[in-house]
Amino acid sequence: MDANRRPDTMERITTPELAKAFIDEQIAAVKAQVGDKKVLLALSGGVDSSVVAALLIKAIGKNLVCVHVNHGLLRKGEPEQVIEVFRNQMDANLIYVDAVDRFLDKLAGVAEPERKRKIIGEEFIRVFEEEARKLSGVDFLAQGTIYPDILESGPVKAHHNVGGLPEDIHFEGLVEPIKLLFKDEVRVVGKELGLPDNMVYRQPFPGPGLGVRCTGAITRDRLELVRESDAILREEFDKAGLAGKVWQYFTIVPDCKSVGVKDNLRTVENFVVIRAVNTRDAMSATIEEIPYPVLNTIVKRIITEVPGVNRVLYDLTPKPTGTIEWE
Ligand code: XMP
Repeated sequence: MDANRRPDTMERITTPELAKAFIDEQIAAVKAQVGDKKVLLALSGGVDSSVVAALLIKAIGKNLVCVHVNHGLLRKGEPEQVIEVFRNQMDANLIYVDAVDRFLDKLAGVAEPERKRKIIGEEFIRVFEEEARKLSGVDFLAQGTIYPDILESGPVKAHHNVGGLPEDIHFEGLVEPIKLLFKDEVRVVGKELGLPDNMVYRQPFPGPGLGVRCTGAITRDRLELVRESDAILREEFDKAGLAGKVWQYFTIVPDCKSVGVKDNLRTVENFVVIRAVNTRDAMSATIEEIPYPVLNTIVKRIITEVPGVNRVLYDLTPKPTGTIEWE
């Protein structure tokens, strides 16, 4: 039997009861696979790695070593939430790596989008390998692979994925407890494992993170504008009940300035672009009609609360012709 093929008889996990049965089954399987050996996991805080972490904590407790790499391109509050949920609430063995300067220094002056992606992906593996090497006696590597990753693996996925396997560290085996699940099932399992809703129902977030939304060469200042404006957008979407209705929503800060006016003086500052799209498969996307008062509140908050921004735009372009991200 091909372990990477979902059996036709496998029931779709749609209820807490089915999720519980799946969790119990996987706990037993993981225990049988790894015994009392140690397992390493790169925990980004995304849905898939968070579900794997919560599941493995239940199965093997402190023998799971989670590594959370902060590459400086995460959304506001994300590293803090990973620490709070996994270290404080679930008592996980969590290593937090502050690699912000390291990534941003490597990215300084690099404007070409694919080069930026490559640097982020490679640096991530390097940081992760370094942490793995510091730990003695880690035998297994856990991964948040899900079924669409297996079905879609190929050049497109490779281009879009950040991370991947550390190349020159030998592990006895891979632990991939959710590799036969679809995304909706992963969420049901995550909920049953007690993960917070904002982790379980999170919108998709690209591996290179805010790096592709701070277009051109990333600067710390502009990155801060992306992070702060994105936090305001998410807060207002949550308040307006739009978070579950819009597939992906975020802000972009292009590498370009516009003229504005403040206190009767001309300003030359950055502008923020709002993008909010719906899609089935990310191959094409439509634009959501966001109620005008919500947009108005977002604009007002961004121009008053985020210093260095004098203008906010709403990108109304569907895909095609515009991709979802700006680079
Ligand atoms: P585009 O911009 O190609 O995006 O319309 C389609 C979906 O893919 C996400 N995306 C990425 N995800 N690494 C990722 O893991 C990447 O480099 C990357 N670039 C785009 C994008 O957010 C959207 O959901």
